[in-house]
Amino acid sequence: MSNNFFPLTAEELVNRINKIPKVKLAVLPTPLEYLPNISKDLEINLYIKRDDCTALAFGGNKTRHLEFIMAKAVSGDYDCILTGAGSQSNWCRQTVAAANKLNLETFLVLMHGIKGNKMQGNFLLYNILGANVDIVEGENIEDIPGHLDKKYEELIKQGRKPLLIKGGFDADDTVLAGISYANAMAEIDVQMRSNNFMADHLILTATNMTQAGCDLGSKILGWPTRIHGISPVYFEMDIKEDIARICNQGAKMLDVNLEFTVDMINNDNGYVGEKYGVPTPEGLAAMRTMAKKEGIILDPVYTSKGFSALIDYVKKGIIKKNQNVIFIFTGGTPAVFAYSEEITSSF
Ligand SMILES: Cc1ncc(COP(=O)(O)O)c(C=O)c1O
Repeated sequence: MSNNFFPLTAEELVNRINKIPKVKLAVLPTPLEYLPNISKDLEINLYIKRDDCTALAFGGNKTRHLEFIMAKAVSGDYDCILTGAGSQSNWCRQTVAAANKLNLETFLVLMHGIKGNKMQGNFLLYNILGANVDIVEGENIEDIPGHLDKKYEELIKQGRKPLLIKGGFDADDTVLAGISYANAMAEIDVQMRSNNFMADHLILTATNMTQAGCDLGSKILGWPTRIHGISPVYFEMDIKEDIARICNQGAKMLDVNLEFTVDMINNDNGYVGEKYGVPTPEGLAAMRTMAKKEGIILDPVYTSKGFSALIDYVKKGIIKKNQNVIFIFTGGTPAVFAYSEEITSSF
């Protein structure tokens, strides 16, 4: 990190972020809730940032990302959106919902993965939202950009004017998504001040962009907080390098003198289990703990794994007694309905 950097206040950070074009999709700020029962059991002070409550088709972290990414959809000559991910994708659900609000049709290219075309969870919601869906064989989500390029050519030949959004696989989109989470850190900054605490740890389930925004925003605001991203997937690419890249590009965009290196990024793939999209026993147990103790329903693919890591970090002493911890609930709850067998058989 550059040594002549002075932290910004939340207001100063938000003023800089507000110069970047966006469309209004989310209801913000989302609540920061104290979790009294789990705090007592784990002997920590645990708060949850309710980003499942962003209000776009069941909400989630993607609503924040899309506010910035979708700005180009309204500024250019497009008649549809093209994007893709796994078949039970929260990103796709929220992108279709955002596109609907902006009067744009959506085409989705979905990797079959373990759930395929099971008419449940997010897949059912694509149907209700009215998306055009293609399913391709395979489950490696790093193959998605290639499939999207093919579909793009097909749509162009049909005379369509698609805006191709590669989301997590596009260098510019990832920076915009990161900026949206720097904004979430400014929200949390205000919420922590009004509750008179500073987080020692902030934990979230993360591949690249959401975590980058948390790393970037927390450093800009001068927090001493340790940010932990818990990966839901084993990547072939170096994800920490990508997170540092997003942070550095985001810092430039916000005109702050900060430099991020890979050794500053904590992204842990020790809780993926078998593979992406397959729940872990520890994740499902953590999901039940959150439901039973606090009445909050996590999801089986992302946030349950992230929360199981938080519990394990307490057991391992990475999070110490009486420390202040924020868990970001990044959404994904609709997927519980697609995972009913795995969830019920875990009991
Ligand atoms: C519920 C949920 N949490 C976390 C993530 C990870 O977000 P990111 O790709 O920005 O790291 C996703 C991504 O799809 C998600 O759907």
